Amino acid sequence: MTTIRPMVAGNWKMNGTTAALREPRLLAGILRGVKLKCDVLICPPATLIRRAKSVMRGSKVKVGGQDCHAAISGAHTGDISADMLKDAGATAVIVGHSERRTNHKETSAQVAAKAQAAHKSGITAIICIGETLDERKAGKTLAVLSEQIKASIPSGCTAANTVVAYEPVWAIGTGLTPTVAEIAEAHAHIRAELSTAMPGEGPSTRILYGGSVKPSNAAELMSVANVNGALVGGASLKAVDFIGIIKAYL
Ligand code: 13P
Repeated sequence: MTTIRPMVAGNWKMNGTTAALREPRLLAGILRGVKLKCDVLICPPATLIRRAKSVMRGSKVKVGGQDCHAAISGAHTGDISADMLKDAGATAVIVGHSERRTNHKETSAQVAAKAQAAHKSGITAIICIGETLDERKAGKTLAVLSEQIKASIPSGCTAANTVVAYEPVWAIGTGLTPTVAEIAEAHAHIRAELSTAMPGEGPSTRILYGGSVKPSNAAELMSVANVNGALVGGASLKAVDFIGIIKAYL
C-alpha cells in the first residue's frame, strides 16, 4: 500500500486583513518543535500571502492562493496569475472551488486550464470537486464526480503537483457533513477515477475532504479510507480551531 503524507489546508476565503495575521503567527508558534505527520497550508486572501509567509518564517506551515487565472499575464483586470502567487510566496493554489464554479460560472475546462497554469508556475494545484444537494438527492453524486474529474484534471498532473479536494457543496459552511459511509464511497470512487485521470499517479495522490470540518469531527472524518487530509474553511480562521483539526494527524 502506498503511504500518503496527508495535508490539512485552510481556505480563508474572503476573510482577513492585517490584524488576522496574528492567527498564522500563533499557529507557527504552537507548531514550533512539533513533529508533524501532515503538511499544513493556509490560503489567506492574496493580499496577505506575502505577509503571512513572513510572519511564519522558519515554520513548516506553507502558504497558498485561493484562485488563479489560466494565463501568466495579460489584460485581465482584477485577476491574479499563478506566477504572481508564487512570487508572493505561495506554494499551492486552490482551483475550481464550488464558490468560484457557482459565483463566477467557472467550468471544469477553465479549472483544468488554471491547474495547468499552476503547474507551469511550479506550484501545486488543489483541484476541488463536489456535488450539489440536488445532485446527491437524484443519486447522481458519483456520476458528477466522474465528470468533474475527467474535465477538471489536465494532463501532466502528478501526486507531487496535484491534490484533489472533495467538497460536497451542501456541506460547505452548513455544519452538515456526509456520513462516514458516504465519504468512504465518494473517496473510493475518486481514487478509482484517478487511475485514468492521472495514470500511474492516482494511488499516491492526496484526496482531501472538505465541508464543515471542525475539531470535533476531524478525527472521525480523517480516519475514513482514502481521506488524506482536510480542506477547511471557517475553522481555519482561528489558530486554536485549526490546530484542533491538525491534531487528527499528531
Ligand atoms: P467550511 O469548512 O467553512 O464548511 O468550508 C469548506 C470549504 O469550502 C473549504 O474550501
